[in-house]
Amino acid sequence: MLKKYCKGLIDLNKHEAIGFIDSGVGGLTVVKEALRQLPNERLIYLGDTARCPYGPRPAEQVIQFTWEMTNFLLEKKIKMLVIACNTATAVALEEIKAQLNIPVVGVILPGTRAALKATKNNRIGVIGTAGTIKSSAYEEALKSKAPSTFVSSLACPKFVPIVESNEFHSSVAKKIVSETLNPLQLKKLDTLILGCTHYPLLRPLIQNVMGNQVTLIDSGAETVSEVSMLLDYFDIANSPQSKNEPNEFYTTGSANMFKTIADDWLNLEKLTVQQVRLSQFNR
Ligand code: DGL
Repeated sequence: MLKKYCKGLIDLNKHEAIGFIDSGVGGLTVVKEALRQLPNERLIYLGDTARCPYGPRPAEQVIQFTWEMTNFLLEKKIKMLVIACNTATAVALEEIKAQLNIPVVGVILPGTRAALKATKNNRIGVIGTAGTIKSSAYEEALKSKAPSTFVSSLACPKFVPIVESNEFHSSVAKKIVSETLNPLQLKKLDTLILGCTHYPLLRPLIQNVMGNQVTLIDSGAETVSEVSMLLDYFDIANSPQSKNEPNEFYTTGSANMFKTIADDWLNLEKLTVQQVRLSQFNR
């Protein structure tokens, strides 16, 4: 069990925070679920908004950026790391798990499990960034568990910029979502994996285009259930009375834009965002 999540475990402290990383605001969809399922836990979030999107970048660069974010959070002392980004999970999860002494969780396997549980006709769609789709990580995970599954994958490179620019309620967003998902319409899918943590912010538009007969899988939400299970397994869940420090939010981009989206999405009473630089956190 241990090797599945990390190199080893050294003195995990249940009072430390859970760290979340993403290329931008997308991982907030995972944080939203963590706030709901794990209210006793302190969360530290870092979004690399200045270098978002990761989707079109070469794998080696995404791995480098993911290490920089990881090292930033390790310095803040975290007891678990959630790679709340499918693009980073697809290329960097194994390497990071193999070197860390805290449990590391990605978003692809939990999404895969949830999709297989939901499908009735064995026809599953996967939408994600160019990097995630190119990696075939979802397709391989789905097929390794259920070889007869029909999988239709589609990269949606225009979705992340819509979310990062806070345009996800706009009519332009509606048009782009509709045009992009058009090729999936005739595939007779009953389940669609939102294989990018930014996409749940576009969920109503995606559901509208795909129709109510298609179950949308939010891999982030599934991931938090896995985090919850691991907190119990490693006996590092925080107790209700011990959460006395606030959650922390960091971005490498505009703190204002990040805060606008985070306020809208998370609805927290007090949320402060700090801008940080990652250049000294090289691998
Ligand atoms: N939110 C990220 C994901 O889940 C990536 C978005 C991007 O930077 O392209 O894949």
